[in-house]
Amino acid sequence: MGDSQRNEVPAAFVTGWPIKHSRSPIIHRHWLKHYGLAGSYEAVAVSEEDFAAFIKALKDGSRGFCGGNVTIPHKETAFRLSDRPDELAQELGAANTLWLQEGQLHATNTDGYGFAANLDGCHPGWDKVDRAVILGAGGASRAVIQAVRDRGVNEIHVVNRTVSRAQELADRFGPKIHAHGLPALEEIMAGAGLFVNTTSLGMDGAEATVFDFSGLKTGALVTDIVYVPLETPILKQARQEGYPTADGLGMLLHQAVPGFEKWFGHRPVVDTALRELIIQDIQAA
Ligand code: ATR
Repeated sequence: MGDSQRNEVPAAFVTGWPIKHSRSPIIHRHWLKHYGLAGSYEAVAVSEEDFAAFIKALKDGSRGFCGGNVTIPHKETAFRLSDRPDELAQELGAANTLWLQEGQLHATNTDGYGFAANLDGCHPGWDKVDRAVILGAGGASRAVIQAVRDRGVNEIHVVNRTVSRAQELADRFGPKIHAHGLPALEEIMAGAGLFVNTTSLGMDGAEATVFDFSGLKTGALVTDIVYVPLETPILKQARQEGYPTADGLGMLLHQAVPGFEKWFGHRPVVDTALRELIIQDIQAA
């Protein structure tokens, strides 16, 4: 029996700095209610300087938590301070999901799972492509590269404004990953069956960059991990040009599944009611 099950009512958290805009409490509280489970999930704001003390209190049980989620800027530190990071977290050097088990702090990273599970749900077969293009080389890009590579896509091209960051990821994730600068984008897209935006381009209604998707394979999937707005300029352009698209909200919802199961003992399902709840929250913001 894990430590989480020793407490009568398991309590989980999401921590980041800032954290008040996190939608994770809405997701987990929705599932707790939906499945009639006893448990709690709260947002805890922790600054970078206080993070090590937070993890210490988590490990010694004085906070009363069985685990939780970690977001920006703590994902790398959470990985370093955990006792038992799994292989995914080790390769990424970052963790977003923590849980206590027999006195040890376990860590994984579910972002790549969330990315793949979302596309499995809305575009099955999305991974049956020879060539994928991933725009961006930040923290979010890493989990996407790992997920796409682990699904067996042979050629993964990472295109970034700062080429050296893309090159670092190619070195980290192996020979199937190729690094390029933005000027190569058009050429690199030729024949690709999957295009993923992991940059902040188009976020919060920022000015649209127009891409030339014409080289993509017919029926290529265009997806964005940004979910505010839900239809980013990149997705809008792709849709208008006839490409299937997938928005970033599904990744957020699906990445929450493994953590919920660890802390509360029930594997939840991502359904349209949950999606609608988050869309309402985005619209109200
Ligand atoms: P995250 O962890 O969310 O991925 P990040 O590490 O700040 O955030 O990375 C943001 C990504 O968006 C990077 O790939 C960044 O490119 P650089 O590495 O060159 O900075 C990319 N990005 C942000 N603004 C951009 C812009 N105006 N044009 C092109 N790329 C941009």
